[in-house]
Amino acid sequence: MKPQYNFDKIIERRGTSSLKWDSSVRLTGVDGLLPLWVADMDFEAPPEIREPLARRLEHGIYGYTVEPESYFQAAQEWLERRHAWKVEREWMLASPGVIPCLSAAILALTQPGDGIVIQPPVYHPFAMRITGNGRRVVENPLLIEGKRWGMDFEGLESAIDARTRMLILCSPHNPVGRVWTREELERLVDTCVRRKILIVSDEIHCDLVMPGFTHIPIASVSPEASRLTVTLVAATKTFNLAGLGGSVAIVEDPELRKRLEATQHAVFAGLANTFAAAASEAAWRSGQRWLEELLQYIEGNYRFAVSFFAKRLPAVSVLPLEGTYLALLDMRSLGLTDDKLSDTLRRTGRVWLDEGRKFGRGGQGFQRLNLACPRAILSDGLERVCRAFSSAVSSTPHAE
Ligand SMILES: Cc1ncc(COP(=O)(O)O)c(C=O)c1O
Repeated sequence: MKPQYNFDKIIERRGTSSLKWDSSVRLTGVDGLLPLWVADMDFEAPPEIREPLARRLEHGIYGYTVEPESYFQAAQEWLERRHAWKVEREWMLASPGVIPCLSAAILALTQPGDGIVIQPPVYHPFAMRITGNGRRVVENPLLIEGKRWGMDFEGLESAIDARTRMLILCSPHNPVGRVWTREELERLVDTCVRRKILIVSDEIHCDLVMPGFTHIPIASVSPEASRLTVTLVAATKTFNLAGLGGSVAIVEDPELRKRLEATQHAVFAGLANTFAAAASEAAWRSGQRWLEELLQYIEGNYRFAVSFFAKRLPAVSVLPLEGTYLALLDMRSLGLTDDKLSDTLRRTGRVWLDEGRKFGRGGQGFQRLNLACPRAILSDGLERVCRAFSSAVSSTPHAE
């Protein structure tokens, strides 16, 4: 099929208060970096989303907004179509974002001092929200075998103590790029049922899955799984709408839902943003085609990065990408400390990746590369990475 969208188009983002493009001095102390860090894409949303937003903007009044029923309906239809997961309308609660809702779930469903399991290296706000809300981080680090990360099920059994109440799952997993298999999810559910642990499953990356892989919502693996899980989904990561916010929590169990809803009411009210519902609803209703083309483009960028490093800087390897648009670069064989890695990338290469260590235990020696940008930007970024290390390692070209 002829492509309908142009992902090669370069759009200037500097000067738009972009976290990715406008904060390098504030966050790194270095100016003029090419940003390939935070999970935000340099692609414009498709006309199918921009047009309804433009109509809403034209209206001119941006008062308090409630999410319409059609917002939930669009999410339900999307989840069923894309992930074969049928959720009831009454299971759904709207919130301004996945992370605000994660905090609400921690407050609603655990007590101060309770333990909450995370599996690092993992999206760093999980640990921040646990400790920031007076709960205890229980780490069950992922294990890497060869180039592939997996869950440590034996480690999980021993990490859980008498006051462990919850596990936060990242599915697909940021930053290791895994799409969890049915077997892995079933095993996790089995442990959580036996040990009476609730699951909060952050599935914000669920649509960003590479060809050949299938995302399985953990709540869909069995009726028990559905009863002990709070699933967090959004259109904002898939369609690059993070600046507008908006997410949906899906909770089948009425008691858990009642507690989560009460805490949500105590700390925030619904989506809160006039444009959020319009954008996400349009995305879920009409974004399918754009998403298919996006995934192909990202896979192309992934292949481009793999072959770039194989030819130009074989000391760095790109880990397999099953899901998300974030590739983990294994730089351990360069033999540099994390400080030195980042310093060399930023000061010599003038390129800004996310440090693996930011995601906790196991992330040392890795850097996370954001592939969701026009190929020309990616190519510039990879040249910068290569330049950064050209004096540190031999970069003699060799056959693929
Ligand atoms: C795993 C994960 N969860 C949540 C978020 C952020 O969600 P929100 O912007 O809805 O709070 C991100 C953003 O990168 C993410 O990678």
